[in-house]
Amino acid sequence: MGAGGAGLRCALELSQHNYSVAVLSKLFPVRSHTGAAQGGVGAALGNEEPDSPEWHFFDTVKGSDYLGDQDAIEIMCEDAVEAILELEHFGLPFSRTPDGKIAQRPFGGHTKNFGEAPVKRACYAADRTGHMILHTLFEQCVKNEVRFFNEFYVLDLIMDGDICQGVVAYDLATGDIHVFQAKATMLATGGHGRAFSVTSNAHTYTGDGMAICFRRGIPMEDMEFVQFHPTGMRKLGILISEAARGEGGILRNREDIENIGSGKDGFMGAIAPTVKDLAPRDVIARAMYNEIVEGRGIEGSGDTGSDYLYLDLVHLGAEIVNERLPDISHFARTYLAVEPIKEPIPVQPTTHYAMGGIPTDIEGRVLWDAKNKVVPGLYAAGEVACVSVHGANRLGTNSLLDIVVFGRRGGKDMVRYLGEAEFGRIKGEPDEFLRGEIDRLQNGGGTEKVVDLRPEMQNVMMVNSGVFRSKDSLTKARDTILELRQRYQKVGVQDKSAYFNTELVEAIELGFLLDSAWMIAESALHRTESRGAHSREDYPERDDEKWLKHTFIHYEADGKVKFAYKPVTITKFQPKPRVY
Ligand code: FUM
Repeated sequence: MGAGGAGLRCALELSQHNYSVAVLSKLFPVRSHTGAAQGGVGAALGNEEPDSPEWHFFDTVKGSDYLGDQDAIEIMCEDAVEAILELEHFGLPFSRTPDGKIAQRPFGGHTKNFGEAPVKRACYAADRTGHMILHTLFEQCVKNEVRFFNEFYVLDLIMDGDICQGVVAYDLATGDIHVFQAKATMLATGGHGRAFSVTSNAHTYTGDGMAICFRRGIPMEDMEFVQFHPTGMRKLGILISEAARGEGGILRNREDIENIGSGKDGFMGAIAPTVKDLAPRDVIARAMYNEIVEGRGIEGSGDTGSDYLYLDLVHLGAEIVNERLPDISHFARTYLAVEPIKEPIPVQPTTHYAMGGIPTDIEGRVLWDAKNKVVPGLYAAGEVACVSVHGANRLGTNSLLDIVVFGRRGGKDMVRYLGEAEFGRIKGEPDEFLRGEIDRLQNGGGTEKVVDLRPEMQNVMMVNSGVFRSKDSLTKARDTILELRQRYQKVGVQDKSAYFNTELVEAIELGFLLDSAWMIAESALHRTESRGAHSREDYPERDDEKWLKHTFIHYEADGKVKFAYKPVTITKFQPKPRVY
């Protein structure tokens, strides 16, 4: 399920073992959100300067605010080198060093020698790295005759007790409902960023896989951790890659406007003296938010309507901007009418990434509970999953790495599982629930509208469950979401047609998003500490004694959840205060 990097890498693995593989995607595959990832994929190749997987391991653990599971992180950083060389051999057109090696650039939180200084670790293809990964893996899958079901929207799992037997999908082109029986199923459906009003995420990022599992009794892990990328385009949220700062870009506030084009340090120089504008995203997003509320936003304070800062690339010069950052410069010109070679780009933090999701083990197997009980036949990888390699805050470039490493690992374990699993008989009518739900939306006489409910959800989440949160704001978010869930039961779709019924699809997506929003708000309310991207104004400190653990949120009844906990796996790096 899902034809982004994780789904394609898994399918490719299975096809290499001559299994019959179907990839179901609600989009044409190369429109998947992996294509929006810009700046790079992390691997300690050491092509530009000395580097090591161990430093990458350390940076990722520290970046995760010590919540990442260290066994999984070590595997990811060790596997990274092989995974990138494999992509190169598949034909991925990486940017190159003068002597022909894969080019690498610095990225936030990636350092040499355990935090000494930034290191060039992000392997890149200009600022189109995700796009290139997506196209390369798609070509390989096509070559291996993987079967694609494009614009098939998966809406439910088929479960026989504890075992997953496949999925039920809705064909967008015809309105038909199909049952896909499978010995092994992987969910690689991405994140839930569209639950927020300002996001870098595609319109299709509606938390589908997470909600489908949650409704089937599978808990979600660490849902309180949502990443806000520092540099979204003002108001639009479209990503301006961290690679811009990797190439030397500098964030500037109102008091610093005279330094535009000078290359002098901006406000991050004082906040993170070692890595400055290349601090991890949680640190920078908080710093930006503080600049704005303290009145140093470009047009005044947040209260007076200014909610943005500048990203200054002017000192980099036309050659670097045009050659290494062509997409983001094009976006700035097209969407903001800003010429980044001459003027700074207005930016604000934008909802970017779900660190939490469907719990899995290091082989990508989905877990029923915090005690590691496996769901036979069900796998998850990529943003929809929580292994957990990102803990409380993901480092840039580690999401593209996660999808190729864990898509591949999941595929390998599926090969093992397929060798021993039986094709069970499907009992009952697996599509019954889905038919009922579509009938309710189309013919139930509901009067509520998606266009009214969706912005309410997005605004309440952005304002109350954003970069900073508190008991009051999260209670408001949770209560509003519960109210919207009640109103959602009365949503009615006017369009009764079967062909490309986008009104119906948006209604289904809203239902999934409301599930994600509910889980995020409840989990964030529950965790009474600040860690990584989860910043509680009422609990500003990290509390390792009480909260060095993963949360598992379980559905109990409508409006009711319960929590379980899983210890963090710590192998090598003991938790320490994070200083950058
Ligand atoms: O800023 C970026 O290019 C995003 C990369 C990432 O999220 O890993």
